[in-house]
Amino acid sequence: MSFDVNKLRSQFPILATSARGRPLVYLDNAATTQKPLRVIEACQNYYLKTNANVHRGVHYLSEKATQEYEDVRKKLTKFINASSHEEIIFVRGTTEAINLIASSFGSAFLKTGDEILITAMEHHSNIVPWQLACQKAGAKLVVAPITKRGEVDVAKFKELLSQKTRLVSFVHLSNALGTLNDAQTLTRWAKEIGALVHIDCAQSVSHLPVDVQNLGCDFISFSSHKMYGPTGVGVLWGRKDILNKLPPYQGGGDMIRTVTFEKTEYADLPHKFEAGTPNIEGVIGLGAAIDFLNEVDLKNIHEYESELLKTAIMKLSKVPGLRFIGEAESRASVISFVLEGVHPHDIGTIVDQQGVAIRTGHHCAQPVMDFFEVPATCRASLGLYNTASDIDSLVEALLTVRKVFRR
Ligand code: ALA
Repeated sequence: MSFDVNKLRSQFPILATSARGRPLVYLDNAATTQKPLRVIEACQNYYLKTNANVHRGVHYLSEKATQEYEDVRKKLTKFINASSHEEIIFVRGTTEAINLIASSFGSAFLKTGDEILITAMEHHSNIVPWQLACQKAGAKLVVAPITKRGEVDVAKFKELLSQKTRLVSFVHLSNALGTLNDAQTLTRWAKEIGALVHIDCAQSVSHLPVDVQNLGCDFISFSSHKMYGPTGVGVLWGRKDILNKLPPYQGGGDMIRTVTFEKTEYADLPHKFEAGTPNIEGVIGLGAAIDFLNEVDLKNIHEYESELLKTAIMKLSKVPGLRFIGEAESRASVISFVLEGVHPHDIGTIVDQQGVAIRTGHHCAQPVMDFFEVPATCRASLGLYNTASDIDSLVEALLTVRKVFRR
């Protein structure tokens, strides 16, 4: 495997900085990843050399901006193995992607008595948009339970699929538990009963190869900022035939062919779903992130991070009083835990004093916290630049927490 973590680290300027007077140890990659210099430069160069609106002008800069913007769509088509660049819709992030499907699909196809199936390990962004769509249509939101290990109860999932199920939406890699779902199997079962399938790939897309043909689903969504790209941009991928049947999500410039006061004809895909001036800088920065991930190769990243995850679990399990929340057989990147007798927020504050960044809280997955009967967890999440020494720093910081609380 050609994976040189030190060489990779040197491409991320922020990793050489300090936090609270200590060398920065960044273990909050599930919240957002740091950016390599080439992504920062791509955004800067866009403003230095290209800035113009896309799809609108015939002048040099507008054509250049449009070309750079549309090139990223083509890169993404290859990156997730989509059939056509028309299936790649730029949105603000995973949250907007899911709201788009829930709103467009919901308004056109969801009827009283229909069901949407999700799982009990979803992020709020894969719960609330479906609740809204179900409320509007008089449909029912059905939730497949999870087990004490933090895995989808697959037997129950299968049982809950029925002729009423119109759409199934589940997370690929859980941000709160680190569970890597068997997305192919869940998708196959849902397709067997004729439901559409959306997979939330916000966490998975930067940790393992995501291939929409292999997954067999109808939609996926992900965010640039969790894959080493800029914030404020993300992707909805959908099968062309299905996207063509959905009504627009928002109206405005760029999503139309003709407008009169009596009638509007919508633009073809993908523009039908991209009303208004998009985040051009963000898309171009995302293009640089894709180049970076392609060069490092997601297979290498997955292999490296899987080894590091094993090391982290082994080292953390030796911290007295530490209990993991989520111990699925198949996992990636995320380790959630609690420490006996200390509130996660206190842990977060004390480890921060040692320069270690982790996230503490409910991770926008309150039903997961309720299921495990904890108010919050501490979450360390790995990126491709983390090392065993980062894990040692976290362990040391947790031992300090124990000392402070006389545990
Ligand atoms: N959804 C992001 C997280 O898990 C923000 O931290």
